[in-house]
Amino acid sequence: MKKLFIIANWKSNKTIEETEEWLHDFSDGFNKANIKSEDKKTIIAPPFTSLEHARYCSRNLKLSLEFAAQDVSTFNEGAYTGEVSAKQIKELADYVIVGHSERRQNLGEDEDVVHKKLEQVFKYELIPILCVSNFDQVQSSKFKVQSYSSKFKVNNRVLIAYEPLFAIGSGKPDTPESADEMGKKIKETLGETPVLYGGSVTSENVASFTRMPHIDGVLVGGASLDPLEFLEIIKNA
Ligand code: PGA
Repeated sequence: MKKLFIIANWKSNKTIEETEEWLHDFSDGFNKANIKSEDKKTIIAPPFTSLEHARYCSRNLKLSLEFAAQDVSTFNEGAYTGEVSAKQIKELADYVIVGHSERRQNLGEDEDVVHKKLEQVFKYELIPILCVSNFDQVQSSKFKVQSYSSKFKVNNRVLIAYEPLFAIGSGKPDTPESADEMGKKIKETLGETPVLYGGSVTSENVASFTRMPHIDGVLVGGASLDPLEFLEIIKNA
C-alpha cells in the first residue's frame, strides 16, 4: 500500500479557541480509527497564531498529527517586521506550504519569491509542500528543488500539491484522471516525489483521487474546517 499524505489547510480561519475545539472534536474519532501514520500521514496547517496551541493540544490528546506552517518569510531572522522566519517555524512545524495560489494571486508572489522561500525551507531542513497550479510552475522550481535537495543531501523531501485554480474552493474538483496525468508528469520531472491533489476535496470524492497511481494524498481547504468531515476524508482516503 502506498503511503498517503492528508493535509488540512485551514487558511486564515480559526482562533486559538476554535483550534482547541476542533482538536477536541476530532480526537475521539481519530484515536478510535487507529490510523497508522506509516500508511496515512495526517498534517494540519493552522494559521501561525494557532500553531503552538494546536501542537500542545495534539500532544495532550495523544494524537499522531504533524504540523505545517502556511507560509514562511523569504528572509532570514532579523529586522523584517511582521515576517515569520524558517528558523522560528522550525520549533513549531516540520512542513511549510510554499507558493499557494492564493498567495500568488492575492499577494503577488512570483516565482522568485517562491524560490527564495524554498531556499529558507531547505536551509532549516523543513519539508516544503510546494503548491503548483500548472506545469510551468513545476518546471520553474525544478532547478531549485534539485539543487537544494543535493546540496543539503535531502532526497525527495519535497511534497508537491497540484491545485488547479478552477478547483480551489469552487466545489468543482478536477477529474481524478487529469490530476493523475499531472502527477505522472511531475514525477517524471522531479523524480519520485510525493504528489498530492488539492481543490474541492471532500469525504465523497477523496478516494477517487487517492486511488490513482500517481497521487499520494490530498491538500484539503474548506472541508478540513469541520473536524468530522476531515476525519471522514482521512478514513476514506
Ligand atoms: P479547497 O482548498 O479544498 O477549499 O478547494 C484547497 C486549497 O486551497 O489548498
